Amino acid sequence: MLFLYAIFAIILTFGMVVFFGAPYLPTLANTKKNALDLLELKPGQTLLELGSGDGRVMVSAAQRGLYVVGYELNPLLVLISIYQTRKYRSQVKIIWGNFWTKNWPECDAIYIFLLDRYMNKLDKKIRTRYKKPILVVSNSFKITAKKHIKELHGVYLYKY
Ligand SMILES: C[S@@+](CC[C@H](N)C(=O)[O-])C[C@H]1O[C@@H](n2cnc3c(N)ncnc32)[C@H](O)[C@@H]1O
Repeated sequence: MLFLYAIFAIILTFGMVVFFGAPYLPTLANTKKNALDLLELKPGQTLLELGSGDGRVMVSAAQRGLYVVGYELNPLLVLISIYQTRKYRSQVKIIWGNFWTKNWPECDAIYIFLLDRYMNKLDKKIRTRYKKPILVVSNSFKITAKKHIKELHGVYLYKY
């Protein structure tokens, strides 16, 4: 019975996310590399990841000497990502919660892997939140309200 409750809880935590954003689908290794290469950030700069999943992008970013802030709604993924990023505790900050309701920190770039239907909302939020120039890299989905400045195998780079 306990096992069934556990399965139900896992399905619920992964399922509830669809009401707030994209469901969990991890970025592939080559896509992760393409995204970070496109950004060309320097060590010491800060990347914000909206929906940070199991932490794989944050690990790669930290390995490049970046600071990373990740928001993740799914508590299981938060725990997994805390474990995955444990070697980089001084560089990585993971925040459990709905990123739409948070006050996003200052950063140099944002990484997203969401869905088409959230891109307009995202565009508006970035424009109102950031006054200084900021780079945004999106896996798979274009921000239709803005023209990308570069593209690499389905990863789109924007400059705000
Ligand atoms: C497509 S997955 C990408 C995960 C990770 N960024 C990666 O590339 O491997 C989207 C992630 O965003 C999370 N998510 C969706 N909507 C969210 C929201 N409103 N606030 C915080 N996290 C959210 C999901 O739980 C999921 O882990």
